[in-house]
Amino acid sequence: MRSRSMPTVGSYVRINSSRRAFHKGSCLREQAGTPLAQPQFLENYKQAVEFPPATCDFQTFLSQASPGQDVVLHGYLGVRSDLSKKLSFVRLQDPTMKHTIQIVSTGRNASFEQLRNLRPNSPVTVKGKVQAKKAKDAEMEKRDPWEISLEEIQLLNDFPGDIWMAPDMVHPPKHRHLQLRTSSELREALEFRARVRNVCREELEQGRPPFVEIETPLLFKSTPEGAREFLVPTRKHGLAYALPQSPQQYKQILMASGIPRYYQFARCFRDEDLRADRQPEFTQLDLEMSFATGEDVMRVVEGVIRRLWSTLMDTEAPSGPFRRLSYQDAMSRYGSDKPDTRYGMEIHRVEHLLPVDLIHKITPLTNPIVEIFKIEGNDNDPAATSEFITRFLDSPAGAPFNENPEGGPGIFVYDAKKPLCGLQPFGFQAAEYVEDLLEPDHSDLLVIQAREAAPFSGGSTPIGDLRRALHTAAVESGFKPAATGFDFLWIVDFPLFSPSSDSEPGQGGAAGLSSTHHPFTAPKSAADVDLLLTDPTKVVADHYDLVVNGVELGGGSRRIHDAAVQEFVLRDVLQMPAERLTDFSHLLDALRAGCPPHAGLALGFDRLVAVMLGKDSVRDVIAFPKTGKLGEDPMVKAPSPMTQEALGTYHLRLVDE
Ligand code: AMO
Repeated sequence: MRSRSMPTVGSYVRINSSRRAFHKGSCLREQAGTPLAQPQFLENYKQAVEFPPATCDFQTFLSQASPGQDVVLHGYLGVRSDLSKKLSFVRLQDPTMKHTIQIVSTGRNASFEQLRNLRPNSPVTVKGKVQAKKAKDAEMEKRDPWEISLEEIQLLNDFPGDIWMAPDMVHPPKHRHLQLRTSSELREALEFRARVRNVCREELEQGRPPFVEIETPLLFKSTPEGAREFLVPTRKHGLAYALPQSPQQYKQILMASGIPRYYQFARCFRDEDLRADRQPEFTQLDLEMSFATGEDVMRVVEGVIRRLWSTLMDTEAPSGPFRRLSYQDAMSRYGSDKPDTRYGMEIHRVEHLLPVDLIHKITPLTNPIVEIFKIEGNDNDPAATSEFITRFLDSPAGAPFNENPEGGPGIFVYDAKKPLCGLQPFGFQAAEYVEDLLEPDHSDLLVIQAREAAPFSGGSTPIGDLRRALHTAAVESGFKPAATGFDFLWIVDFPLFSPSSDSEPGQGGAAGLSSTHHPFTAPKSAADVDLLLTDPTKVVADHYDLVVNGVELGGGSRRIHDAAVQEFVLRDVLQMPAERLTDFSHLLDALRAGCPPHAGLALGFDRLVAVMLGKDSVRDVIAFPKTGKLGEDPMVKAPSPMTQEALGTYHLRLVDE
């Protein structure tokens, strides 16, 4: 056991409790000729400069303590109980905040008065002798067998009286340090995140050949890869870096550089609106393999997921290759390219079955596609089903569906006591078809929704969004139980190109098309390569997304490894302007230098950890997440206004909006 005498504890001085970030005393200056008295805060600080090492951590202590042992422990003080003028108890919480031990102080002891002046939550070192704790019952004695008779206590920093730290206290995001300090759940999420990282590393580095972790630059350049970027101005007139949306281009260059397998926990930056599963700054587990196809990548990723689940999760690890669903099937059966497949509610097309007057009632569109799905009711109680759906449609969550310009949803509660079981508007024949199709029971809910008759594009259809929102509302209101387990699937066969949208910058080409994934994704087959010339909108991509429980966990693809084909896609298919094409010349040069075929994927690491912990938002697994629409860090208050001086340094000028 190490033993070093502890500095004496300075008398406790209450530091101006109204101070926030700055201490009044820090402005003290020596007045002309008069040396200034040592301010108290410096005195206090000096008392904490040296402090003894702990003789052990709490866990070791709790398993190895013996009566009479001398110990030094570090930790945070709990709330003190003063039992008499000469007896105080306080629990000391260890630095991990997972264990506590009782400290006993008696009036016989010099540290007694010191302890009585210290506030809860203050960090201290405690020196004392271990003794058996006298507990009320044997069970208590077993659970908490030791206490420490206090000999010395050293205050390392005062916990101010103006910070309120009750266990149920909700701290605002600007006090993230207090959120973290009071929430063991948050701290455990961060620990779990670190373990997930280690397990991923172990799995990837055990392969043959092993994946090699390589860092790629964060100061990158602006290229029209797909998402909106953050620019970093430099002192050189007119020049800026861009932060990477992902290390996509660097990792492909590594493939051309003779690195067979790369991975990285990569920081990525995208200037997009925040959502529960989106941050402007996030982490990917990014990987790439040369001489490989998408099949090889999917196998590797399945191995990572299996290892994570078998090492860190209580539920069974997914077995066998993950199920695959084409983009077309996912969109038609679930109305989403990241469907939660655990709760049924599959969608069917029915416009060919429905009477024209019913279609006219639900949509202003001519020749629309009309789709239907069913939610099972409960306890043969159609009234409860009606109440649930009415409440949903009247709620803010239901508003966007009611206001859909293509028509709101048509709602039917299947009720055996009503004519045609409540399906009268369908007419006799269509009602029969629908019954054959969905096999509804008494009290089930049937929902129909129209949409424009057009090929699928984007991530969801109106009925897909409604399916998801209704299921969420059903779970939240207790109408349905929450779905359980993890259903992993690969969504494959995406279209290589999608119509350009206003919300995503895309590649800025003149063809009215953007790459669905990114412009480096390869066509799936030789026939798809031919379609590049004749009808690019029909080209199927060798692109695969990993989806679980309605979350897009990862996305990847096989890449175009031939410079001429890559240039053709950028210049002739997407019709990018020549000056933007040259932004990719580094990549084209690398591909031209005999780059082998390669494929890869990136898992959204924040989303992965959130899914594993069952969290609704990635914010709950990020130490310092951004919040608000603009993606502010409320604690450090970033982004912050640029000063005139900084504007000058970077040759920038603000224009009025
Ligand atoms: P993609 O753009 O599909 O692919 O991103 C991969 C995964 O990253 C996660 N993700 C995000 N997580 C949090 N906040 C965000 N704003 C955010 N955006 C994306 C998602 C997504 O599936 N370079 C390619 C990968 C490749 O082809 O290898 C890429 O970045 O979980």
